[in-house]
Amino acid sequence: MMKKFLVLPGDGIGREVCEAALPVLDLLNLPIQCEFGEIGWDFWCQEGNAIPAATWHQIDMADAVLLGAISSKGKQAAEAELVPTLQGRGLRYTSPVLQLRQRLELFANVRPVWRLAGQGMPFRCAIIRENTEGLYAGFDRQGVPESLSDWLTHPNLARSGLDQAAISVRLQTRFGLERLFRYAFDYAGANGYSRVTLADKPNVLRESGQFATDIFLGIAAHYAGIEAEICNVDAVALDLVRQPQRFGVIVAENLLGDILSDLAAGVMGGLGLAPSANIGHGRAYFEPVHGSAPDIAGSGRANPAAMFLTIGMALRHMGFAAAADRIDGAVLQVVRQGRCLTPDLGGASTTQDMASAILQAVTRP
Ligand code: NAI
Ligand code: MG
Repeated sequence: MMKKFLVLPGDGIGREVCEAALPVLDLLNLPIQCEFGEIGWDFWCQEGNAIPAATWHQIDMADAVLLGAISSKGKQAAEAELVPTLQGRGLRYTSPVLQLRQRLELFANVRPVWRLAGQGMPFRCAIIRENTEGLYAGFDRQGVPESLSDWLTHPNLARSGLDQAAISVRLQTRFGLERLFRYAFDYAGANGYSRVTLADKPNVLRESGQFATDIFLGIAAHYAGIEAEICNVDAVALDLVRQPQRFGVIVAENLLGDILSDLAAGVMGGLGLAPSANIGHGRAYFEPVHGSAPDIAGSGRANPAAMFLTIGMALRHMGFAAAADRIDGAVLQVVRQGRCLTPDLGGASTTQDMASAILQAVTRP
């Protein structure tokens, strides 16, 4: 059956890497119908919404969505750039990436990690970050409410005063954690990983840590063939650099997972190489980890590899695993050969040149 693939190139180098990498779909000759949609900064400036209504409709009809990158600026900059007809209408800028994650309930952010560039032992693992709650649940405020003062007995609070303090709350729910951990174990099974590691801080965050631990072990009991391990997040950060081959799937709450996954992008060889997926029940979108890179946009310096690998993840999601393997293999080959690399990897090639080399490696592995 024909699959519908919606491409939202977005801003800056997002557009450039989409244009460079998408020809791979023609080469692979798959039953996929590609459609383009609009998203990003320009639409905020024109319409007061970075995701136009027509795009939401396209998203609802698609089997998978590919996002290039989006420029998100601070609230004030966003308001200042609205066209005069939209100003003063009380419009609030909400990051389109957040809108997508919230509206489609994309609770898991998946980042496959393997050593593409650089020295060291080959390895392959994946980081699954919770995307909807944890420390990014939105309970973040300046000033401590009077009603919490009995509970917050920290001595510094008395020294500063309740109005000279700020709090962020880490929200962990049974609902959120069960679906996350189930997804992590299913992903491990489907991708040949024999271990799932929960990266948290149970020895310091005793209550929420114990809560997560109990739920994690409860879910793990249903997956007999997969080892469940609970580690302190700082130790996981160290091991990701020193012995990443010991990991299979690493699962973490929102903030901790955010940090670990950028660390992992560094281990892979940089932002230009890191793909990601945002997964919900029956919904998904795929994007390179990098942003719109205004510092290099328009100069032909953007590394297209992350976009190729991201397209591979989307293809795998739509059931085209063999095609995804061909893309992964081609990127690996070009990066290892080291002849056609963009400046971020120490080369002097343009986005187009590196993309052409990868496309060639897809046709002739
Ligand atoms: P960024 O990822 O755009 O750039 C960080 C640094 O990495 C820059 O020096 C850039 O030149 C380099 N870089 C990134 N991707 C590259 C590639 N493919 N090839 C070579 N070099 C690459 O992050 P930054 O600068 O913090 O944010 C820029 C804009 O992107 C902001 O408006 C930000 O809000 C947005 N952003 C959007 C994301 C998304 O669409 N999901 C994610 C991160 C940032
Ligand atoms: Mg991040």
